[in-house]
Amino acid sequence: MRRLFVAGGAGFIGSNFIRQVLAGRSGVEVVNFDALTYAGNPDNLREIAGDGRYAFVHGNVADAAAVAEAMRGCDAVVNFAAESHVDRSIHDASDFIETNVRGAYNVLAAARDLGIGRVLHISTDEVYGPADREHPRREGDAFAPRSPYAASKAAGDMMCHAFAETHGLAVIVARPANNVGPYQYPEKAVPLFVTNALDGQPLPVYGEGLQERDRLYVDDCVRALLLLLERGEPGEAYNIQADNHRPNIDVARAILDLLDKPYALIQFVDDREGHDPCYWMDSSKVRALGWQPDLGFEAAIERTVRWYRDNRWWWEKIKSGEFRAYYERQYGRRLATARPYAG
Ligand SMILES: NC(=O)c1ccc[n+]([C@@H]2O[C@H](COP(=O)([O-])OP(=O)(O)OC[C@H]3O[C@@H](n4cnc5c(N)ncnc54)[C@H](O)[C@@H]3O)[C@@H](O)[C@H]2O)c1
Repeated sequence: MRRLFVAGGAGFIGSNFIRQVLAGRSGVEVVNFDALTYAGNPDNLREIAGDGRYAFVHGNVADAAAVAEAMRGCDAVVNFAAESHVDRSIHDASDFIETNVRGAYNVLAAARDLGIGRVLHISTDEVYGPADREHPRREGDAFAPRSPYAASKAAGDMMCHAFAETHGLAVIVARPANNVGPYQYPEKAVPLFVTNALDGQPLPVYGEGLQERDRLYVDDCVRALLLLLERGEPGEAYNIQADNHRPNIDVARAILDLLDKPYALIQFVDDREGHDPCYWMDSSKVRALGWQPDLGFEAAIERTVRWYRDNRWWWEKIKSGEFRAYYERQYGRRLATARPYAG
């Protein structure tokens, strides 16, 4: 791998991935192709902006010609580009179809036409639909997506398999669980709770806070992605899960404990429509390649909370912009009818 094309590298996982690639692979150049939607942020990579091995291309994966032009000269591809927030897909899923389905297709088609030798596509645990510890999903299991986001990701994931079978493209699919860590847009539960707590604002917890998610630290996820890019079997999919599952209410309490804030900040609000109770995957396939997570739940949350506490410059800008209209639409009415924490 000499020159890596990364789509969606200005977002949360993509920016952490690019940082780890440039730090650990001295001979590799990176082309970051990103539309800079509300979730894409040049600040996420500001310390490497002047690195001679890094190039940024402002472009949209829905634009097939722009993708092909930027990918020319690269020998490996990683696709993070996505509309990634379930709540926004419930409100309007059209951008999700454009980016997560049409965009995924364009990246695969360009890689095929240019003879790219290695493609890693980032899918999600949500394609399987709800699952629990007793019934972990394996890579060959059927998909049962329940949100418009998950359905769009399932379509992109299946297109990868179609390209492997039909065109012989060496594409590998990664299905990570919920990530936590630096540079995550504060619409997602963990950075939302942390930044609201730091500001003394309520933490809106859906339902009774009983939905469970894995909390995979982003550096651990990125190590798995690099391993799959370099050593994954073409045509195969790999689940990535740390087994750090906790219900959201426990996550909210852990964050408040770490910041020495009262549980009274927790407000139970009307649940997300169609909210999946839990995802659970069997990740033995990626572990058989030698991967395991370094951080358990407590360490992952502690490191994440510390980063947002120490980097107000990063999230205060975001929370004063587009975010405000989103927050009002998503939580305004919900917070007006919230139930207080009584524990
Ligand atoms: N964050 C998680 O916990 C998680 C878990 C499992 C899977 N994933 C998947 O991992 C990938 C990265 O997730 P994330 O949390 O970093 O997302 P993110 O929302 O933080 O970042 C998405 C990035 O893609 C870019 N983008 C969006 N539409 C684009 C388009 N049309 N053309 C080019 N760029 C575009 C955005 O500008 C942004 O930089 C996504 O595919 C997501 O579905 C995320």
